[in-house]
Amino acid sequence: MLIQSLKNHKHQFFKLKKSNGMKIVIGLLSLTCCLVVLTSLSGPYIPDKGIEPAIAFFKIEAAGFAKATDELMQAIDSIERNNPVNLRKAREALKKCRLHYKRIEFFLDYFFSTAAVIYNAPAKYEIEEPYMEFQEPIGLQVIEGLLYEKNPYAKKEELKQQADAINSSATDLGSLLYSFHADDSKLLESIRIHLLKVITLGITGFDAPFLKSGMEEAEVSLVTMHHILAPFLDGGSPTAVAVDTLFKKSIEYLQINTNFDTADRLSFLKTYALPLQYQLSLLIKELGLYLDTGNGIVNYEARDIFSKDALNITVFAEKNDWRKKEELIELGKQLFFETGLSGNNKISCATCHRPENYFSEPQPKSIAFDGHSFVQRNAPTLFYAGYQHEQFWDGRAKSLEEQVKTVINNPQEMNGSVALNTLTARLPGYANSFKEVFGKEEDSLLSGDKVAYAIAAYIRELNPRDSRFDRYLHGEENLLTAAEKRGFNLFMGKAQCGTCHFAPLFNGLVPPFYNLSELEVLGTLETDDLGKPRLDKDRGRVEIFPMDFYERAFKTPTVRNVSVTAPYMHNGAFRTLDSVVEFYNKGGAAGLGLSINNQTMSSTPLNLSGQEVRDVVSFLHSLKDSCSYMGDRIKVATK
Ligand code: HEC
Ligand code: HEC
Repeated sequence: MLIQSLKNHKHQFFKLKKSNGMKIVIGLLSLTCCLVVLTSLSGPYIPDKGIEPAIAFFKIEAAGFAKATDELMQAIDSIERNNPVNLRKAREALKKCRLHYKRIEFFLDYFFSTAAVIYNAPAKYEIEEPYMEFQEPIGLQVIEGLLYEKNPYAKKEELKQQADAINSSATDLGSLLYSFHADDSKLLESIRIHLLKVITLGITGFDAPFLKSGMEEAEVSLVTMHHILAPFLDGGSPTAVAVDTLFKKSIEYLQINTNFDTADRLSFLKTYALPLQYQLSLLIKELGLYLDTGNGIVNYEARDIFSKDALNITVFAEKNDWRKKEELIELGKQLFFETGLSGNNKISCATCHRPENYFSEPQPKSIAFDGHSFVQRNAPTLFYAGYQHEQFWDGRAKSLEEQVKTVINNPQEMNGSVALNTLTARLPGYANSFKEVFGKEEDSLLSGDKVAYAIAAYIRELNPRDSRFDRYLHGEENLLTAAEKRGFNLFMGKAQCGTCHFAPLFNGLVPPFYNLSELEVLGTLETDDLGKPRLDKDRGRVEIFPMDFYERAFKTPTVRNVSVTAPYMHNGAFRTLDSVVEFYNKGGAAGLGLSINNQTMSSTPLNLSGQEVRDVVSFLHSLKDSCSYMGDRIKVATK
């Protein structure tokens, strides 16, 4: 997997704006005084009753983790050529180490995120754009990959170095606490985020794909969180009781669902984990300890991560303080279907992103502006396109606004640069709507900007979230077949789909902060004939950023609505979902024996049976939105 870090988004703690800083400080001081007086009057409330025990817990568990890394070092040291017993011991030591790590992860991730990277970062290059600096992968996930290679003994030196690096920093974990201060609101936020991480990533086994210890690790995480929350659960309020009960039930459930390949994740989420997320959020509010240090994308007010409002789409917009938002969207809708935006007055966005096909192109490649050649890639669905930090298959545009301008100007697509500059002359009918929406103060905007803002606002509305799957998760029973349910459990487990197509949108937007969109290298084929596999010639992101890792890297698209957006992949070469899943089942290009040295997807076959492949496809079908409420938005196009 490749990640590009969006700078400045990662986990920020309070930052006061400079100009208002003083005012806020004074405000806070007086507020604190009031609170001190109030709390001393109201008696038993003990501030920060959770953080001190949590720190003590961290100290003990960090020592336990350090000891486990000792054992890991020794076990790795004992690996011998052709000695499966010692290899098995090393893998067991790794698992033990990981389970220990899960007891301190919530704390490290939140309070010391940079230190956490050493232990459990993905085994891949992290690339910081635009500087193109990258870090060599390090940590438990790298060790796991090496221990599951064909001949781990050959990698013994590398294994030893990795284990040694982890061990020496683990032994030093206690020093992080030197002059460390935190309070209960931060502690509770760390738990909230960790629960989200378990729900979206932990149960998919994303950080231990070969050990398949994801369910057991999730259990340890939940036991830990429950323990840390104990000081807040003894008040006896109905919410505290609900949180306590849901923790106990979740843990019990995981204890009987330890088998990674067969665990029922859907019931876990629907019955326990999502209600727990909701009740925990209520409890935090009830305790008056609400704190949101995030980037504004995850909405703490939402019921749970699968709720429609869980991710705040406006944060992805270049500008989101429009006063006439409804009018802006309406204008965007008209422009989306406006052929006058193209150089020949014949092409609109809807020509390729066809509403009747859920805003996608049913041909592998659309006809280009010249009327006879084809554009380079398949036009993807625009449903949920707003929830991405990268637009286009190679991620070359950072926002929908930028993307819209690129398309209109692209000589292959709409060739409309002239149209943009002379827009109001060409499209006099729009003068009033533009004035109405943008008013006087926006006169300085070029026509192109206005068109982009409007169309982008419209695309962000293409967000129905009313598939049977979504409705089932939120209480409507009998909407999913047994095959669809099995399919979800495979998607999030054995089939590993959920380790790239992340919940809740099942695209490359990475939980738990959703502050980056991933690109991956699968080695997509030129055709869907798996019997005669040939690599597609499209080089993907490397054409934009010339780094070897980006050779054939493409953005992970959403799989919502894929049952109605064939054909698939950037080249539209896969005609059926069965062929897509079969391609994954074989381990991508490398699994099919093609020579590709930077495939980020594991080349190990998934070993899905024919039935399991069909189950995964069934689940994908349950992700089709009914779009009932969007009727007119679609009709406009088809008339
Ligand atoms: C001639 C066909 C064509 C037309 C017309 C067209 N597009 Fe596209 N669109 C594509 C193709 C092909 C891609 C994928 C290109 C790539 O990724 O390199 C694409 C990609 C996109 C994406 C990126 C989606 C994602 O998930 O990455 C968005 C958004 C988009 N188009 C919106 C629009 C809008 C808005 C218009 C009208 C202003 C428009 N398109 C007009 C063919 C077209
Ligand atoms: C290693 C990351 C990764 C894994 C694992 C993964 N995908 Fe994908 N998926 C991608 C990327 C990247 C693309 C786009 C590839 C391209 O266009 O060449 C994609 C494309 C797709 C598409 C085509 C969507 C479209 O609109 O064209 C479907 C369907 C899909 N994946 C389903 C699945 C399923 C089902 C699984 C599990 C069996 C899975 N994926 C596992 C990264 C992944």
